[in-house]
Amino acid sequence: MCNSRSFSVFVLLSLSLFFLTCQLLHSQDSVKILSPDELNQVTFQLIDGEPFYQLSRHGQPLITPSRLGFILKGERPLSRQFRLLRAEKSTFQEIWEQVWGEDKLILNHYNEMRIELEEDQPNSRKLNLIFRIYDDGLGFRYEIPEQEYLHDFQIMDELTEFALAGDYEVWWIPVYKYHRYEYLFQKSPASQIDTVHTPLTMKTPSGIYLSIHEANLTDYAAMTILGSQNLVLKCDLVPWSDGVKVKTAAPMKTPWRSIQIAEQPGDLIQSHLILNLNEPNKIQDVSWIKPAKYVGIWWGMHLGTNTWGSGPTHGATTANAKKYIDFAAKNGFYGVLIEGWNVDWDGTWWENGEIFNFTRPHPDYNIEEVTHYAAEKGVKIIGHHETGAHIGNYERQLEDAFKYFKQFGIDAIKTGYVGQDVISTEGTHEWHHGQYMVRHYRKVVELAAKYQIMLDVHEPIKDTGIRRTWPNMMTREGARGQEYNAWAEDGGNPVDYFTIIPFTRMLAGPFDYTPGIFDLEFRHARKPNNRVRGTLAKELAIYIVIYSPLHMAADLIDNYENQPAFKFIKDVAVDWEFTRVLNASIGEYITIARKDRNSPNWYIGSITNGENRTLEIPLSFLDEGTKYVAEIYADAQEAQWDKNPLAIDIHQIIVDRDTILKLKLAAGGGQAIRLSPTYEDHLLKKNEN
Ligand code: NOJ
Repeated sequence: MCNSRSFSVFVLLSLSLFFLTCQLLHSQDSVKILSPDELNQVTFQLIDGEPFYQLSRHGQPLITPSRLGFILKGERPLSRQFRLLRAEKSTFQEIWEQVWGEDKLILNHYNEMRIELEEDQPNSRKLNLIFRIYDDGLGFRYEIPEQEYLHDFQIMDELTEFALAGDYEVWWIPVYKYHRYEYLFQKSPASQIDTVHTPLTMKTPSGIYLSIHEANLTDYAAMTILGSQNLVLKCDLVPWSDGVKVKTAAPMKTPWRSIQIAEQPGDLIQSHLILNLNEPNKIQDVSWIKPAKYVGIWWGMHLGTNTWGSGPTHGATTANAKKYIDFAAKNGFYGVLIEGWNVDWDGTWWENGEIFNFTRPHPDYNIEEVTHYAAEKGVKIIGHHETGAHIGNYERQLEDAFKYFKQFGIDAIKTGYVGQDVISTEGTHEWHHGQYMVRHYRKVVELAAKYQIMLDVHEPIKDTGIRRTWPNMMTREGARGQEYNAWAEDGGNPVDYFTIIPFTRMLAGPFDYTPGIFDLEFRHARKPNNRVRGTLAKELAIYIVIYSPLHMAADLIDNYENQPAFKFIKDVAVDWEFTRVLNASIGEYITIARKDRNSPNWYIGSITNGENRTLEIPLSFLDEGTKYVAEIYADAQEAQWDKNPLAIDIHQIIVDRDTILKLKLAAGGGQAIRLSPTYEDHLLKKNEN
């Protein structure tokens, strides 16, 4: 079945311009290709039979000659004595439609260079390299074609380098740590980093922004980056427990290695390089995939006022679930997340991975009654699978667990993999980010698609854009979420958090941060130094600044009673036609405007670090000739995140595309704005359509 959304994708593709020029360049050792706007250039060359690439912009080197190739187990390295068999160039251009996302339509325009290499020695092996150069960056991947002298093989090291042309400033988080990707980004010269995750965002001395990441991570190990004092960063694949990096067979393709290039930090956010390097949507009927907002039985557990396990403060009771369902129905939320609904959470639940049962509800949670009640009220329950990182136990139950939830009308599931490492089906301890888990996470996404289930994955593999191919893979964690404010030893996420995350973690894809805490200091709860480091207006702005197709209103629902600011959360959209970064400086401030995909309304979110500031925002992106009501949720004059975080000034003004708004942000503050055509203009627009 093909619904209207997938139909329009088809129309756009068939109308798109596609042409191919084929140039055969024999026995040449250096091949270059420019981006469509001719500003970025990638060069491939063989130096004494070894493959290298380099990247420049405006003729200035960004990445100097960098090595390519592999070390294989029990074989000679696949990295030298090559000759160039063939180099082929082509151009591609299309516009494709996202099922949901930050922008409805995406331009995919690149020039490609396909390099075919063969070893210049007996029993020669073949290696291909594909480079795609875009106006916003570079993607390249290896292909190992079917061949006589290479069949099943094991990669011990991928030699890909990123030789920086200078000691760039980098924002990074460490690898191989207990809390996976949940670390605060640090900034340092590139020469000082050890092993770090991607996206790895950098700034060159001349003010160009780069971000190294990967796209379409499929059946391979995640790439991390190993630093070096000589500025030659190197791909460092996350190993299996036996030390092998990738177990594979020819023919195979690696994920794309990507380097985003931007002149302004906001352009990194607006780049669609990662999505463009992924394959088109594989789900035909997408009518069941719905960006949405939700509430949940969740924050109480993190504050310690409720428990996941049994006892007098168990959160997931039938009565409590009904209370949340009533609230969701009254306030127009799609669903209610219910954690701790199943048995086996008692004790130190993060060690219970081996016994978690995904089809046995807790005795005081009547799933049939709850889901029936929810259905009557037009609300969905969001299911929860905490695996405790015990993959064997989860995979054994996976299909039954999906069927079980599905019979109760549940079509979105939050999964979780709490643990320092994971325990495989064979009992080995594997990293969350090695090939074993890349396979597992994808298996779950594909099986979920079969059962028409949307996923929100916590403790995930980093996003590499597979939401384009599998749009049921809605959102994920993969960073320090709101919960750190409740219990982290360091007191919670720092005040400048949201001025860094959009340029680093968010370049990978959507983040289920779970914003919307109104009781910012939760003084009644367990940890004296923990709180939200921001103002109430900033908490609203997160809904725009942090993109997620599933956004939670995370506070205890009682904290939303009689709160005028709650209207913004009820109103705010979660699926966008356009996204525009209006201003940005990494670590200082960011303002993003997004146009709702299903209405003429725009939303703006602006966030500052620990300093107060005034930002001027021209509203020139609004429709010509239309007046809009701007509902403004601003920090009040006296607001300050640490002393007076709740002081909010909510007011309305009429604006149009000639208006320049002055956003006054308190220290640790923010601002959220909803722009909707005035009633008269709204009626006129409706009439036009
Ligand atoms: C960690 C997740 O990030 C959090 O949202 C969840 O509540 C707990 N694990 C329990 O599954």
